[in-house]
Amino acid sequence: MEDGGVWALRLHPVHQIRIRICDLSSINEIKSFTTRFSSMNKPLHVLVNNAGFLEHKRVTTPEGLELNFAVNVAATYTLTELVMPLLEKAAPDARVITVSSGGMYTEPLNNNLEYRESDFDGTKQYARNKRVQVALTEWWSEKYSNKGIGFYSMHPGWADTPGVSKSLPGLSEKLSGNLRSNEEGADTVVWLALQPMDKLVAGAFYFDRAEAQKHLKFAGTAASHAQIGSIVDSIRSICGLQPPMRR
Ligand SMILES: NC(=O)c1ccc[n+]([C@@H]2O[C@H](COP(=O)([O-])OP(=O)(O)OC[C@H]3O[C@@H](n4cnc5c(N)ncnc54)[C@H](OP(=O)(O)O)[C@@H]3O)[C@@H](O)[C@H]2O)c1
Repeated sequence: MEDGGVWALRLHPVHQIRIRICDLSSINEIKSFTTRFSSMNKPLHVLVNNAGFLEHKRVTTPEGLELNFAVNVAATYTLTELVMPLLEKAAPDARVITVSSGGMYTEPLNNNLEYRESDFDGTKQYARNKRVQVALTEWWSEKYSNKGIGFYSMHPGWADTPGVSKSLPGLSEKLSGNLRSNEEGADTVVWLALQPMDKLVAGAFYFDRAEAQKHLKFAGTAASHAQIGSIVDSIRSICGLQPPMRR
């Protein structure tokens, strides 16, 4: 399967790909999607939380959520929690891979999840969201440590995608010709999905097939991870999820 350092996906004709569409900016849609998906009662081996979004203006969804937060945080949390019983069916080899970003290095965890300050800054909000994903991954890993589910977050590197050219045109232009291909960006995701679990570090942040630091020296972000418990409570309340059951 490995091809020049990049994983290439070649499916045998007996493998079937089924596509289901869900608007991840809507908590209600995620809830109906997971209800339908769960009714198949099949083990879920790998969940990749890849969908990501950067909107520069402060926009609210019809459900009243700030849009970046809705897609990057509320959806990641709600979808993962609601499919947890299916992941448990695939234990001890189930995993959740959340595609975060190196952009998170600049921001500590912040309990102002929907960025209610008047000086809304979409890039900063995106970085805050990506920090939440890294801290959530750590939190899940501790909370569900006995469930046989591996939780990992990762940075794909800067890749030439429609999202980057639309939301970060300056970066796209500056790095023109040096951005990664889609395959290179996806490489560590596929690698994390295929590695034996005992070779991976639970709750870790990965970059280029290796564990990477979650905090830069002197960035002052490390202590903020202590807030993750209360942040999870806030996300659950915003998303209308019941308090976590004792597992
Ligand atoms: N590219 C990079 O350099 C880079 C760097 C760091 C991190 N990342 C992360 O990598 C991930 C993929 O980003 P990308 O660069 O490939 O961005 P992209 O080209 O904009 O792709 C984003 C993906 O998210 C999906 N998505 C967005 N909003 C959605 C919604 N409301 N419901 C369902 N799906 C939705 C999009 O689906 P549609 O196509 O249907 O809209 C698309 O498949 C993101 O989490 C991003 O934060 C990317």
